[in-house]
Amino acid sequence: MLRRTLLTMAGTAGLALAAGGALAQETLRVGLILPMTGPFASTGRQIEAAARLYMQQNGDTVAGKRIQLVLRDDTGVADQTRRIAQELIVNERVGVVAGFGLTPLALAVAPLATQAKVPAVVMAAATSTITEASPFIVRTSFTLPQVTEPMADWAAKNGIKKVVTLVSDYGPGLDAERAFTAALTKAGGGVDNLRVPLANPDFAPFLQRAADAKPDALFVFVPSGVGAQFMKQFVERGLDKSGVRLIATGDVTDDDILNGMGDVALGAITSHHYSAAHDSPENKAFVDAFQKANRGMRPNFMAVGGYDGMHAIYEGLKKTNGGGGEALVTAMKGLSWTSPRGPVSIDPQTRDVVQNVYVRRVERVNGELFNVEFATVPNVKDPVKAAKSGPN
Ligand code: DHB
Repeated sequence: MLRRTLLTMAGTAGLALAAGGALAQETLRVGLILPMTGPFASTGRQIEAAARLYMQQNGDTVAGKRIQLVLRDDTGVADQTRRIAQELIVNERVGVVAGFGLTPLALAVAPLATQAKVPAVVMAAATSTITEASPFIVRTSFTLPQVTEPMADWAAKNGIKKVVTLVSDYGPGLDAERAFTAALTKAGGGVDNLRVPLANPDFAPFLQRAADAKPDALFVFVPSGVGAQFMKQFVERGLDKSGVRLIATGDVTDDDILNGMGDVALGAITSHHYSAAHDSPENKAFVDAFQKANRGMRPNFMAVGGYDGMHAIYEGLKKTNGGGGEALVTAMKGLSWTSPRGPVSIDPQTRDVVQNVYVRRVERVNGELFNVEFATVPNVKDPVKAAKSGPN
């Protein structure tokens, strides 16, 4: 049914293309589908701001095409993402769909991208398997196993032997749990796993169980924006004074909300691919420009995923001379550049980002809380896919 609808609509689009050739030739619409309202609105706000900043800095014309962003709010609900993507592809004739704030939203669009041969640039969602769901997906965010393994390695090297993991109970959380548990167990540690629902999480009962287990550390993954709720309950349960160390992926100490968490966040160790405090000229310029354009809002890792996603689209279009579809996906494979996060490339085999992962500590710098990077693991691939493809 879906197939027939899409084929019929593709036929209609073909006719429209012939009739309105000039417009079709000169404009490439990028359908940006994001949660702009609801519990994950900070992800949408960050990515939209970054995509607009990229276009402001690099112009709205590339390889003879005028780039037009078409922003749609999916409210973080997968059925909406699918409906909107179909509408954008068929009626608005977008050449690229992009955004995707959560794993289920990216997965909902994967079959449409394949069917319509439209590149889908995943700027946020981070479950490892997403790029395997369609050969038209290119990802500029990260994967949870990619950023979690360095955290487990750091823990093992720093005397942390017994850990309780606490993750949101869906794709990226399960990826983080699996990667952390495997790596720490391999290093001789012991791990217990707890999972908290994604929607409206109440951390209290899980934090109580974690405290009762008296581990050396609590390892946490929650998606961007949720870390503040977690931290509040962490304090209310007295875990900050219990001697249990807090370690996490950088999703928890997300730059968008970190400064509002207060001193309880100080000393938390996290691993991630981006910190607003990353010390490079490219990042200083990015943070300054982003804050100027957005009334002081600090960019987080979602913003960088959006900014780099636009870069991949622009550079891909330069290589195809404005061509889209499969050629644009091919052109994005193997791109490499210096991002605000550091050196990155699009792995031609997996269409994931190869990037540095940094180990960071929350510190107060000039009166504000930041994730201050103190160690770098260079050029990390998604380890799940690297393991599947074997040694090379
Ligand atoms: C996902 C969402 C997030 O906000 C995040 O920080 C990591 C992963 C996801 O749903 O894939």
